[in-house]
Amino acid sequence: MDVQEAIRTRQSCRQFSDKPVPQVLVRKILETARWSPSGSNVQPWHIDVMTGDVLQGLVDRVMAQDHLFPKGEGAEYPIHPENLIDPYNARRWECAEDMYGSVNIARDDRAGRIHQYSQNLRFFGAPVGFMYTIHRSMGQGHWADMGMLLQSVMLTARAEGLHTCPQQVWAMWPKTVSEYLKVPDDRMIFCGMGLGYMDTDHPINNWRTTRQDIDDFTTFAGFDDPA
Ligand SMILES: Cc1cc2nc3c(=O)[nH]c(=O)nc-3n(C[C@H](O)[C@H](O)[C@H](O)COP(=O)(O)O)c2cc1C
Repeated sequence: MDVQEAIRTRQSCRQFSDKPVPQVLVRKILETARWSPSGSNVQPWHIDVMTGDVLQGLVDRVMAQDHLFPKGEGAEYPIHPENLIDPYNARRWECAEDMYGSVNIARDDRAGRIHQYSQNLRFFGAPVGFMYTIHRSMGQGHWADMGMLLQSVMLTARAEGLHTCPQQVWAMWPKTVSEYLKVPDDRMIFCGMGLGYMDTDHPINNWRTTRQDIDDFTTFAGFDDPA
């Protein structure tokens, strides 16, 4: 698979099959992804890779706290600005409505939405869960480094025939995650990620988000050749 195909076929997988992913394959993905760039090559990331009983143990701990759904324990950082302005807010709503719509969960179906939310906390059934943490001393510049790593993992996973779902929902459970994984106080939970094989029959995986056209988000200057 070339990089163009990996980018175009990556999508957030919200239902994985139960096909296991061997450690050797996870390591192969990380062996490539570790070559992600970072500002001045500081590589401010750490990943906890979980499977089996360890993964299930974390899922069980958060699922036992369903009284805290959907807000969780209080986010490590503001995942969205408090007042997300348009057009960003409109895109966020479109994404949510399309996702819930794909599995016929109406806007006023609170129980259905909470149930779908809870699938996040099951890593959408993925056999492998990643937890990405970043040193608390890092500012915005180095948070971008984490994005580089996430995308590298996701694209390399595609090249191996796997799918992923990046999951900021885990940043809303910092206490439980940090205690469970013994994350040192100086590292914060940036996000989680499910990794595995996609359940291609599930309707939650059979819709795609939209994107702006190139000319809606770029400004070209200085070119004298035709577009
Ligand atoms: C850093 C990050 C965190 C995300 N967190 C979640 C999450 O917690 N739950 C979820 O269902 N999707 C999550 N997503 C997936 C986005 O909703 C998704 O990337 C976006 O809607 C575009 O769709 P696509 O990934 O299918 O192309 C996250 C994406 C990113 C980049």
